[in-house]
Amino acid sequence: MGRIHRLPAEHANQIAAGEVVERPSSIVKELVENALDAGATRVVVDVEQGGTTLVRVSDDGEGMSPDDALLCLERHATSKISRFTDLSDLGTFGFRGEALPSIASVSRLLLRTRARGADEGVEVAVEGGVAPAVSPSGGAVGTTIEVRDLFFNVPARRKFLKATATESAHVSDVLLGMALARYDVTFVLTRDGRPVREHLRVGSRAERARAVMSSDGVSLVECRAERGPIRIQAMLAPPERARAGATGLSVLVNGRPVRDRQLVRAVSQAYGSVLEAGRYPLGVVWIDVPPEVVDVNVHPQKAEVRFSDSRGLFDAVTRELHASLGHAFGLPALGPHSQAPILRGPVPTLRALEGFARTAIDAQVERALMPEGNLFAQPEPAITGPQPGAVEREPLFEGRGGYGALRYVGQVRGTFLICEGEDGLYILDQHAAAERVTFERLKKSHATRGVGMQRLLVPEVVPLTPGEVAMLEENAEEVSRLGVEVRAVGDSAVAVHGVPELLVRAEPARLVRDLVAEVSRTAGRPFRGAVDLVLATMACHGSVRAGDALSADEVMALLRALDDVDFAGHCPHGRPLVMRMSFGELERKVGR
Ligand SMILES: Nc1ncnc2c1ncn2[C@@H]1O[C@H](COP(=O)(O)OP(=O)(O)O)[C@@H](O)[C@H]1O
Ligand SMILES: [Mg+2]
Repeated sequence: MGRIHRLPAEHANQIAAGEVVERPSSIVKELVENALDAGATRVVVDVEQGGTTLVRVSDDGEGMSPDDALLCLERHATSKISRFTDLSDLGTFGFRGEALPSIASVSRLLLRTRARGADEGVEVAVEGGVAPAVSPSGGAVGTTIEVRDLFFNVPARRKFLKATATESAHVSDVLLGMALARYDVTFVLTRDGRPVREHLRVGSRAERARAVMSSDGVSLVECRAERGPIRIQAMLAPPERARAGATGLSVLVNGRPVRDRQLVRAVSQAYGSVLEAGRYPLGVVWIDVPPEVVDVNVHPQKAEVRFSDSRGLFDAVTRELHASLGHAFGLPALGPHSQAPILRGPVPTLRALEGFARTAIDAQVERALMPEGNLFAQPEPAITGPQPGAVEREPLFEGRGGYGALRYVGQVRGTFLICEGEDGLYILDQHAAAERVTFERLKKSHATRGVGMQRLLVPEVVPLTPGEVAMLEENAEEVSRLGVEVRAVGDSAVAVHGVPELLVRAEPARLVRDLVAEVSRTAGRPFRGAVDLVLATMACHGSVRAGDALSADEVMALLRALDDVDFAGHCPHGRPLVMRMSFGELERKVGR
């Protein structure tokens, strides 16, 4: 007698459900994808208790015939592909024919549907995937699927469900991804009977991204790039909004929200040094590639994808975004947050302005250091949709040349440069501005012929550990490209013979110690990987400092230089270096 027997369908489905149905949000994802595949223009998602007791998805799509309504609950029943080769030019989210039978096998499912053109609809009720009960039903064209009591028949899985708030957060995340995938569809989410999100259909990806993220006052810049067949579109927040986790960055490949750590890293790297290592930008990136270079069938929930030339793709994403971000972040623009500090009283004195500048810049830095949190997962008290009143990020200057056109008014506390533009007051942190300029120059010369060196008349001896001395000796060539010449003196000191021309103000000993520190901070990576950081640190020491007096000519030279560099709105470590207060705002604040 053989020991092998075929599993009954409901057991096979429960097993498959282990892969497809992880938690309530996976159900939301599958059902919303089906609604979109059915041509819906409006999708309503209701969840109760984080979706553990109820997930209901209603759409106004094409609906199903009574036969299809029964068939769709069977394994590998799909209307979306008929041959395996169809996979490569898939136009739908679904193709596996696994979701509905899997969900039905671990819940109490009710499907109500009416096909376009049909006089009547049908209702199918099924518990734990067995014995479907069919009855006629009224209702509009479209489909509603209700999933109750998830895992009621699989206690072991039910135990793994998290607190309601966590499951709700996952549901919101999924809905956000779908909303970013399809700007032309209206999405509504209600939680325990209360509407919490409404994303009305809009005309473009950019609009949708703004609408979705505007609740947090984030201002996004739009980047578009193409390389070969790869098209990249992004809506990204300035570096001071970066977070310690990647939760605020959505990536979509060919219209599918995906999780891909390498893509996320590629996007982060596009920010260059303005993003501290380990921080991630906020925003959305859509990548569109020819379907034949990406495999979407590598993950049961289709959350991961595989590329035939992933290196080339990551490289394109980093480089192309870097080029447009460098331009876009020339200046941090006016957003709701930059209005935070309020000036009251009569005519603002220079001292008051200085305080204002300090608070505004500090506030931006503070935001940059905000603890990790998921923007999209925060419970929301009310509907958020496109907010017409929200302040939009507009570039401060059209194109380049804006800094050079400012009129320099004066310096306060030897730290801030007050300038007048056509539209308002500009306050720059002189050290951060100088740092950015020096950094860009160092980077440019490093990339071409190497940083120019100034020889010291009297070499300076710097004590180091033997390991550090060895590291400098091993990388002598790279070090000299940085414009630094050191020679070992015994095994625990070096003599500094030359420093970068641009940094003659810097103390040679500090420069070398910082160089060593930066390289060891990036331990394990090749020396090359630390170059940006080293240059940023060198720029910091070698530049005009807070407290340095500057002549008007020096200030103008600095402003003009800012017009020539990328990322001119931030210091190399990502701190904003300028704030603007429009005249309108100024007048309001002094009560005019
Ligand atoms: N909301 C819906 N509207 C119309 N048809 C649907 C809907 N949901 C599911 N279907 C039909 O049921 C089939 C099976 O769905 P599913 O199990 O999710 O597999 P897949 O989406 O991979 O085809 C789909 O191919 C589709 O024909
Ligand atoms: Mg499906």
